Amino acid sequence: MKNEFEAVRGAIPGPRTAALQEQLAQYESQNVTFLSDEFPVFWESASGSTVTDVDGNRFIDLTSAFGVASVGHSNPSVVAAITLQANALMHGMGDVHPTEVRSRLLERLARLLPGGLSKTFLATTGSEAVEAALKTAVIATAKHRFLAYRGAYHGLSLGALTVSGIEKFVEPFRGLVPHETTLLDYPDAQRITLGDATAQLERQAGDCSEIAALIIEPLQGRGGCILPPKGYLAHVRRFCDERGILMIADEIYTGFGRTGYWFACDAEGVIPDIVCIGKAMGGGFPISAAVARPPIMDVWPLSTGEALHTSTYLGNPMGCAAALATIEELERGHLPQRARELGDLLGSRLERLLAHDNVVAVRGRGMMWGVQLRSAAEADRVVKRVLARGVILLQAGPAGDVLSITPPLVIDESVLIRALDIIKEEL
Ligand SMILES: Cc1ncc(COP(=O)(O)O)c(C=O)c1O
Repeated sequence: MKNEFEAVRGAIPGPRTAALQEQLAQYESQNVTFLSDEFPVFWESASGSTVTDVDGNRFIDLTSAFGVASVGHSNPSVVAAITLQANALMHGMGDVHPTEVRSRLLERLARLLPGGLSKTFLATTGSEAVEAALKTAVIATAKHRFLAYRGAYHGLSLGALTVSGIEKFVEPFRGLVPHETTLLDYPDAQRITLGDATAQLERQAGDCSEIAALIIEPLQGRGGCILPPKGYLAHVRRFCDERGILMIADEIYTGFGRTGYWFACDAEGVIPDIVCIGKAMGGGFPISAAVARPPIMDVWPLSTGEALHTSTYLGNPMGCAAALATIEELERGHLPQRARELGDLLGSRLERLLAHDNVVAVRGRGMMWGVQLRSAAEADRVVKRVLARGVILLQAGPAGDVLSITPPLVIDESVLIRALDIIKEEL
């Protein structure tokens, strides 16, 4: 194959990747990594929007590695903050002896988040943040049922699975996951009007007297990058208020500038009762949080030495330092605003792809876009073809028929355009 990128040196995957594939196949649960002759590559290093594999091939990353590397891979300020913190204190004592850096992060989050969302449970992964939010809703309302959306992805731990909208993740574990959630259709702005979407919500939710909370992604990410009609989130807010239901916004994917706003709910001026954040929060270091308004969080019993909800790594000092540095980088580079501006260019370029027969829909906002193709097989083919030409892409959507495009917010415009040209050619 002719290599478009000088940076791609030979066949993908290269010889070192092929050797490592064999080792991985032998020692990792076969459920984890899909291995084939064309996919994946073993990453060795990454900087900004460039990833280098173990064979020395360089790729443009259009995924931010699941939406994490918004400030760029190995952002130097984040690396410096982690290094400094690691030299001073790598690990603290969760809920027993706190640290200054944790306290500073909690205060910073309270100033950053809108509308008095100021009391936090820190955690490590997105799923854990969702679990903390669900537990908080149960504690605050003394109810234990939820409203969630079809296509929703809130993580794969058992608690998070109770509000999953993707059946294949739940089905094998059905016996462990309580059937307490009412699933609603997530309204796709390209297919349903606001009026129909709100009527659908009222109809499908039914009797809400036992419902603790409604959990919603303001823009469904793994579900295929689906945007609700403008005004829908504000309607959900009113819907919850009228019924005494808490509103949980899962901003794990959409938060920290991804959609052109600090948080996607900001676009509609909506303030949830609880927000879940993670992914980009630590710039690559695993840290997440559930943040609530004080009247809700303060229903938890006061700790008298034994927390009802905590974990060994809660508020890990390196994670807190990484998150503080990441927030500073987002601010310094005006990255939410950059996501909006560059996102306009990205969106208009992607919309041109609708001219191709195999493109069904293009949707998104800021630096979070999905290109829906005719089939998952077609999306799979494109992902592999562009990889061979130096571009890393992900598939999304319950069926896998969507190309998900979520580049680092710091990506050079010319690099982005180059990567989009390659996608266009492979379509
Ligand atoms: C919206 C949303 N919530 C929760 C999660 C789960 O996060 P994690 O994989 O860190 O557990 C994800 C992960 O993709 C996500 O996109």
